[in-house]
Amino acid sequence: MPTAEVAHETDFEGWRKAARAFRLAGVDPAAARFAVEGSSGAGSLFDPGPENPGPGVRGDAGGESGFTVPKAFVDVAQEVILHRSADRFDLMYRLLWRLRAEPDLMKVVSDRDVADAMERAKNVSRASHKMKAFVRFRAVQDEAGEAFVAWFEPAHRVLEKTAGFFVRRFTTMRWSILTPDGSCFWDGEALTFGPPASAADAPQDDEIEEFWKTYYASTFNPARLKVQTMQGEMPKRYWKNLPEASLIPKLIAASRARTEVMVASSPTEPNARLAKAIARSVRDGSYEEGFVASDLNELKHGVQACRRCPLYQDATQGVCGEGPRAARLMIVGEQPGDQEDLAGRPFVGPAGQVLDAALEEAGIDRAEVYVTNAVKHFKHEPRGKRRLHKTPTTNEVSACRWWLDQERRLVRPKVTLALGGTAALGVLNRKVAVTQERGQRLSLPDGSAAMITVHPSYLLRIPDAAARVRERATFIRDLKAVRELL
Ligand code: URA
Repeated sequence: MPTAEVAHETDFEGWRKAARAFRLAGVDPAAARFAVEGSSGAGSLFDPGPENPGPGVRGDAGGESGFTVPKAFVDVAQEVILHRSADRFDLMYRLLWRLRAEPDLMKVVSDRDVADAMERAKNVSRASHKMKAFVRFRAVQDEAGEAFVAWFEPAHRVLEKTAGFFVRRFTTMRWSILTPDGSCFWDGEALTFGPPASAADAPQDDEIEEFWKTYYASTFNPARLKVQTMQGEMPKRYWKNLPEASLIPKLIAASRARTEVMVASSPTEPNARLAKAIARSVRDGSYEEGFVASDLNELKHGVQACRRCPLYQDATQGVCGEGPRAARLMIVGEQPGDQEDLAGRPFVGPAGQVLDAALEEAGIDRAEVYVTNAVKHFKHEPRGKRRLHKTPTTNEVSACRWWLDQERRLVRPKVTLALGGTAALGVLNRKVAVTQERGQRLSLPDGSAAMITVHPSYLLRIPDAAARVRERATFIRDLKAVRELL
C-alpha cells in the first residue's frame, strides 16, 4: 500500500506535498496511506519534490499535468489536520481526490465527506476557543523573576493555532503553556515550541488559585444555574485542570438551598426594626444637616440618619467605617455593596475577601486599619431579584464627604489609601486617573499622606487568569508601598 510519512501530527505542509504527489500519481484514496514519522516504521515512498505550489497555483508533475484546489478546501483541511481522529489524513485526501472530478465539492455541504470535514473543523475551532477560556496560569519564580506556567489538555491539537492569542494577550509577561501534544514558551520577544509535557511538569496549587476560587464561589449565582448549559460551556474534560472546578459539584449541590434563600430574601427589603430605629433617630433630633460627631459612635448614628442626598431612600442602612479610633491607616472604598448594605459593615462581601487576602499578603493587619467608604449608602438598581451596583455621582460623593471628613478628623490616619476613582474623588476632592497616579505618595491638606490604587472589585472583573494575576500582584505592590509609608 503506498504510504506517505508526515513529520508530525499537525504537519500540514508534509501532508500537502504527499497528498499532491499521491493525486498526481493517480493513487486512489482507498489505497493511500498516511503515517506520522516514527509511528509506522515505513520509509517515505514519495519524494516531496519541489516546494508545494500552494492553493490556487498550478502544480507541475505527474499524469495529471497539475491542479489547483479551492481555498475553501485548504482552509478546512488546515483545521481538520488538528483533529485528534486517526483517519483525518484519509478524509482530507478523499476530498482532495474528489475535487478533481467535482471542483465545487466544498460547496456541497450535504455531502458526507464535506459535512464530516466541516464538523471536525468546527470541533477544532471550539477546542481552540476553550483553550483561550480555560488556560489557567500559575505564578512561578525563576532566575529572571516572575513567570507563568499553565498545564492544559486541549480536546484537539490546537496549541500552535492558539498560541498567538496568548502572545497578543500577555505580550509583556513570560509564560509557558504545557500540553500533552507539545509546549510553547514566550519570553516577551519570541515564541518557541517544545516537546510534549506532563501535568507533573507544571507547578501545582498556588495562592492565585485560592483567589480565583473565592471569586468564583462568590459570583456563582445558584438561581441562574443550568447544569447542562454550564457543562456545555465548561465541558467536564477541562474540569480537572480548572481550580474553580473543584467547587462546582458542591455549588451545584447547594444551589437549590441557596436559590430558596435568595428567592425568600429578595428583593432585599430594609430590616423593619432597623428602619424604625433610623426613623426615630431622625425624629428625635439626633441628626440635622450640619451634624458634627464628637466620636465615632455618634458619627455612626449620624450616618444612619443622613438625608444629605437621596441614596438613603433605597438602602437598608448607612454603612459607617469601622476600625480602631487611632488607626494609622485608613482605607477608603467606593460605597457599600449588597452584602455590606445588609450587614451594616464595610468590605465584608467578595471585594472584602479580595482586600483581606491582599492585605494579609502585603503584611498589613486589617484589625489595625480603619476601613470605610467614600459614600455610605448602597446605590443600586433592581435587576430582577438582584440589586445591581451603580456608581455614585460626583454630587453624591461630595454630599458624603461630610462624613468621610469627620471620620478622618476623628481617626487622624497617617496614611489614607483610596481604592479606585470614586474613593479618590472622596479623599482628594478631585477627579483622578487611577492608572496614572496609583502607588504615588500624595499629600492631603492636613499634611498626612494619601495613596491611590485600584478597587478590589476591578480585580474580580478581569476575565483572564494571567492578567488577573498580574494586576493582583501590582495591587499588592501598592499595599506594600502603603506599609512602607506607615
Ligand atoms: N466595595 C466598596 O467599595 N466598599 C465596600 O464596602 C464593599 C464593596
